[in-house]
Amino acid sequence: MANKSLSSVVILISGSGSNLQSIINNADNIGIKIDCVISNKIDAFGLERAKNAGIATKVIDHTQFATREDFDQNLTQHINTFNPELIILAGFMRILSAKFIDAFAGKILNIHPALLPKFKGLNTHQRAIDAREKFAGASVHFVTNKLDSGEVILQKSVAIEANDDALKLAKKVLEQEHILYPKAIQKVLQR
Ligand code: GAR
Repeated sequence: MANKSLSSVVILISGSGSNLQSIINNADNIGIKIDCVISNKIDAFGLERAKNAGIATKVIDHTQFATREDFDQNLTQHINTFNPELIILAGFMRILSAKFIDAFAGKILNIHPALLPKFKGLNTHQRAIDAREKFAGASVHFVTNKLDSGEVILQKSVAIEANDDALKLAKKVLEQEHILYPKAIQKVLQR
């Protein structure tokens, strides 16, 4: 990567941050510099992962804001200080307002634990099992104003075995997410 300038990204999380960890581990390979990890939850374990990697962190606690728009405005201001090429949602469990999404149109990526367009929203693994699907999986997609509906960048499927419950399936899919997300980020940056 010596001759190539790195792409600046900001990563938003709400929880464990295992996808964040995978992106951190692959950052050099895919040519990104993670300027900041922002969490809407003060106790998100992903914040520790970022600190351990020497990455700046910021908590913007959504419970401290009267409206979604107020929270998003604060988030926008903080993100703008970095002028990132991409905003990467990695287990960020907040719906973003239209104003936020429009401000960063075409720059926001999300990973969703289902084979979109199937199973948008929450509880994806149980819903896939209940629907007797043969495959579950994960999708990386652009974020638009319609929930989990933007252009899919990459997907990976995982067979649903007879003895899989939602937890087992979530674990198998998550392992694939860790491989998928860095590849999808690289694909977008190479466009
Ligand atoms: C991942 O499975 C991700 O796909 C999902 O949350 C988990 C976060 O895990 N995201 C969503 O459901 C978004 N709607 P992580 O914090 O360990 O990366």
